[in-house]
Amino acid sequence: MESNDNGRTRASRIPIRTEDEIRRMAAAGRLAGQLRRELGKRIKPGIATMELDRFADNYLIERGASAAQKGYYGYPYAICTAVNECVCHGMPSGRVLQNGDLVTVDFVVELDGWLADTAWTFPVGRITNEARELRNSAYLAMMSGILQARAGRTIGDIAAAVGRISDKGSYGVVSQFGGHGIGRSMHEPPEVPFVGAARTGTRLKQGMVITIEPILTIGSPEVYITEDGWSVVTVEGGIAAQFEHTVAITSEGAVVLTP
Ligand code: MF3
Ligand code: CO
Ligand code: CO
Repeated sequence: MESNDNGRTRASRIPIRTEDEIRRMAAAGRLAGQLRRELGKRIKPGIATMELDRFADNYLIERGASAAQKGYYGYPYAICTAVNECVCHGMPSGRVLQNGDLVTVDFVVELDGWLADTAWTFPVGRITNEARELRNSAYLAMMSGILQARAGRTIGDIAAAVGRISDKGSYGVVSQFGGHGIGRSMHEPPEVPFVGAARTGTRLKQGMVITIEPILTIGSPEVYITEDGWSVVTVEGGIAAQFEHTVAITSEGAVVLTP
């Protein structure tokens, strides 16, 4: 979601979920993980991003679920497909994936009124070492953010953990888009920025459910929205990678709901 308050959401506005509610979100999340793997099997040179969208939409409908992004602020598709220098919100099209592309698929599953949000960057065929290292770092950035998602830590602790990974590879971290709370709607408080300092921002509490979804770029993380009104791309043209999990903060620490 778009970031504008540096995560300083008032803690009292953040929904706290019961164990039963978290179990329902986990059911949506498991289905999201299954769809993500099915999409991964189909991502090869020669497939059009629109074919992935059609597959995802049908996959969810056949299982009594739906793609919550469809119709969200008028967004017309089930999934986002961000190729290479597109950092997020890429629209599926007739574009055929080529050997060496990096494609991020991002989607939200709704099942029985509960939502789960996940994104994954897949290599198309054989990618360059530079792209592979960026992808690995984006995955590590998400995982180290998830390790901070525990009661008593702050939203800024997540951003600081992401920053430690991005700094190592001299990658950019896109600051205009961040994670978010999620539940019965896609974007709920708190905002979860991935640029920020440790021990700042809202304190995390048991029962909060948030997404961790940092976007790393080669070169500058400055971005703009293209003329289609959705696709966000890097100004310099450097490629991007992003992984996203929906995570519950429990007495046992962070629990990934989209495995
Ligand atoms: N899934 C995205 C997120 O991580 C939201 C996509 S917005 C859409 O927050 F409109 F493109 F669906
Ligand atoms: Co998402
Ligand atoms: Co999200």
